[in-house]
Amino acid sequence: MFIQPRFISFVLSLFIAISTASFCSLVPNTPSTSVATAFLISLTSSFLLIYFTVEYLIFKELFKINTLFEKLKKKDFKFPKSGNGFKLSPIESLNREITLFAQLKQKEIEDLKKNETYRKEFIADISHELKTPIFAAQGYIYTLLDGAKDDAEVSEKFLKKAAKSLDGLDELVQDLLTLSEIEMGAAKMKKEQFDIFQIVNEVFDQLDKKASKKKMKLISDRNVEKPILVIADQKRIFQVLRNLVENGIKYGFDEGGYVLVKVRQELDCVEVLVEDNGTGITSDDQKRIFERFYRVEKSRSKDKGGSGLGLAIASQIIEAHKSKIFVSSKPGKGAVFSFKLFSIKN
Ligand SMILES: Nc1ncnc2c1ncn2[C@@H]1O[C@H](COP(=O)(O)OP(=O)(O)O)[C@@H](O)[C@H]1O
Ligand SMILES: [Mg+2]
Repeated sequence: MFIQPRFISFVLSLFIAISTASFCSLVPNTPSTSVATAFLISLTSSFLLIYFTVEYLIFKELFKINTLFEKLKKKDFKFPKSGNGFKLSPIESLNREITLFAQLKQKEIEDLKKNETYRKEFIADISHELKTPIFAAQGYIYTLLDGAKDDAEVSEKFLKKAAKSLDGLDELVQDLLTLSEIEMGAAKMKKEQFDIFQIVNEVFDQLDKKASKKKMKLISDRNVEKPILVIADQKRIFQVLRNLVENGIKYGFDEGGYVLVKVRQELDCVEVLVEDNGTGITSDDQKRIFERFYRVEKSRSKDKGGSGLGLAIASQIIEAHKSKIFVSSKPGKGAVFSFKLFSIKN
């Protein structure tokens, strides 16, 4: 039963009034009217005093704590007002402390739940991604063992296919390792000074064959001979550019397709833009392509099939350089990826 403050105050003041009246009656020659008056005065005054103390200093605050816990159960609570600048009573400050504590705990619980879902999804994604190349390689090898090895031509074809699947597996594991290194902070970004065009050229050299197979062009808009110096981790920026240019080739149109790398020198930074005239990305997909393993459904085909980790890695690397990677695109009209790096103007 919830004890009402009025009831408590009445019982206590009754005790006080009875004691006062008894004391008065002990005094010789006290008329009974005086005893009754003393009883009534002490009853009302102590009732009022106790009632206000209990109601306003204790019960009101206890009630607040109580409602707070009720709200806690419904995950809906707001921080109580600070008491209009007056010093808080101990119970009021206790109320504030509990609210603060509850807010923190609630946030922790929500974060833990989010992490748990994220972890589950991540494991499901990894298993799925690992399964595909392993199954494929397994299939080719067992077919060979079951007799296909006797035909030299088929043997070579199947072994090449198995090797390709295992290369894909290796690529996936390397990507996962890079991602975890960056996330754990193990891979600290170096601060090196280098010419961004030198990296662009190295990326183009590596991907030239791939582009010419699709009859696509790789272009850089270098119109000055002097180097454009940036301060960043050279190896990681190479990784970012390689993935962006490779994506431009993979998701670009054959013949007439191009990937153009532009570099714009600004006051204290350099903006790098990687542009293509390929399939483009819808605005819904643009919001998700930087997530791990996210691939636009149509591009899940085997021949294009990367790990879906490239852009996740690229965005983590750029963020570790205290910058951000952006995409702008219209379906069918190509895409532009851009990021900025610190530089030295020369
Ligand atoms: N230049 C681009 N044009 C069109 N789509 C792109 C482009 N770059 C990335 N995407 C889309 O974003 C997805 C994620 O890219 P990424 O993380 O590099 O993975 P992957 O290259 O392994 O598929 C790709 O699967 C593709 O659907
Ligand atoms: Mg990629």
